Amino acid sequence: MRGNTYSSLYGFTAFGESHGSAMGVVIEDIKPGVAFPIDAINEALLKRRPSSLPGSTTRKEDDNVQIISGVLDGITTGMPICLFVWNKDANSNTYKSLKDIFRPGHGDFSIFSKFKIYDWRGGGRVSGRETIARVIAGETLNHLFEGVEFITETLLIGTMTPKYRDSLFAKENPYFWPDPSTLKKIPEYLESVKTEGDSVGGVIQLTVRNLPAGWGDPVFEKLDANIAKAMLSVGGVKGIEIGDGFTLSAMKGSDSNDSMDSNGFETNHSGGIQAGISNGEDIIVRVAIKPVPSIAKPQNTIDIHNNEQTIEVNGRHDVCLIPRVIPVLISMLKLALADAGAYQQLIRNEKRDIESLRESLDKIDEDLLLLIIRRFNLVKEVIEYKNDSKIPITDKAREDSLIDSLREKATLLGLPPEIIEPIWQLIIAEGKKQK
Ligand SMILES: Cc1cc2nc3c(=O)[nH]c(=O)nc-3n(C[C@H](O)[C@H](O)[C@H](O)COP(=O)(O)O)c2cc1C
Repeated sequence: MRGNTYSSLYGFTAFGESHGSAMGVVIEDIKPGVAFPIDAINEALLKRRPSSLPGSTTRKEDDNVQIISGVLDGITTGMPICLFVWNKDANSNTYKSLKDIFRPGHGDFSIFSKFKIYDWRGGGRVSGRETIARVIAGETLNHLFEGVEFITETLLIGTMTPKYRDSLFAKENPYFWPDPSTLKKIPEYLESVKTEGDSVGGVIQLTVRNLPAGWGDPVFEKLDANIAKAMLSVGGVKGIEIGDGFTLSAMKGSDSNDSMDSNGFETNHSGGIQAGISNGEDIIVRVAIKPVPSIAKPQNTIDIHNNEQTIEVNGRHDVCLIPRVIPVLISMLKLALADAGAYQQLIRNEKRDIESLRESLDKIDEDLLLLIIRRFNLVKEVIEYKNDSKIPITDKAREDSLIDSLREKATLLGLPPEIIEPIWQLIIAEGKKQK
């Protein structure tokens, strides 16, 4: 099924279910010969892992990355990198009583509506554990962000808001809470929510500092649009603002515009992105996280036969996704930014090293191969159709007109038309031979 591959220059494919044997990732486009950041990955996974903090699930996983392929003696070989972590502490028994009963707020009902089957053991593929793959992939991009700073502050947990904001203080505590005067109240507050059998959400602000101007492309590859998609793809994320976001809509233009003087911008209401392109100011992204859906409090729901049920979810669940979701969001932000940076490097014609040029060539060749395979497969369908309908397989007039039209298009695009004809003659002839 679609949706398990993050398609980008630095894309990856993720796999695994919460109560299956392992969660993992396959990453293809990593340069050969570079030190693989295994320590950074394990460190980031540690932050995503359930902890002993109040509000965190009691599921205990060591989440130590196992390398299956693509890394030799700590160095990438250029082969697909396959990594996974074991699911050692999954306890499907706690879910047995909930089998076939949809948890409100979770993906059970929508997954069942789509696939007519769902993994009742802890959410399966839509469990928060799938985010392990995102953290691993994001951490492999750190070399692209030298000198760039990622600052995290939590701006809301349930009903708690910081009275004061010190981003350095936020960096030093597990909740990324910027207010020293109220930090101690958080564990107490989360314990009280847990005792009620309930959960809470929150708001996280991510700031990217020192990102150059010019990242992002107009229209369909806007940086803010790609960041929004990356963030909203994380389970539990329900809202995103860039810069002053929703507040901008109630401002006057004279207040919301970021005026400039010869030293640069005087304000940063637009959160460092204008027309989908970074302007060199801090990129400011605020993300709204909903309360964790699985709660012990009784709720109305239905089962797969549409019978009404009352559900109490007593498995091991987070009370609040903060702080565990933070490394996931940072990884997704890095993935969204990485592509924008690579494309900016291309249009600025910055000199690329030979490995990076070869890497791009290999990618194009691979895309060409995939396109040829797609064409062959389609031709097979056409041949089948023609055989069934008793239509002659070869239609010389259509082949000639196809080549004429391709020659014409090639000329328009500045390609020598004489190279087009033999390539397509070969593709057409070989296509017909495919079984
Ligand atoms: C790191 C992480 C951990 C999560 N842990 C839980 C959990 O313990 N229990 C739960 O019900 N949902 C948990 N979720 C949220 C669900 O995955 C999410 O709500 C569900 O997939 C439905 O998606 P939606 O909320 O985006 O609609 C977690 C999400 C993340 C990112």
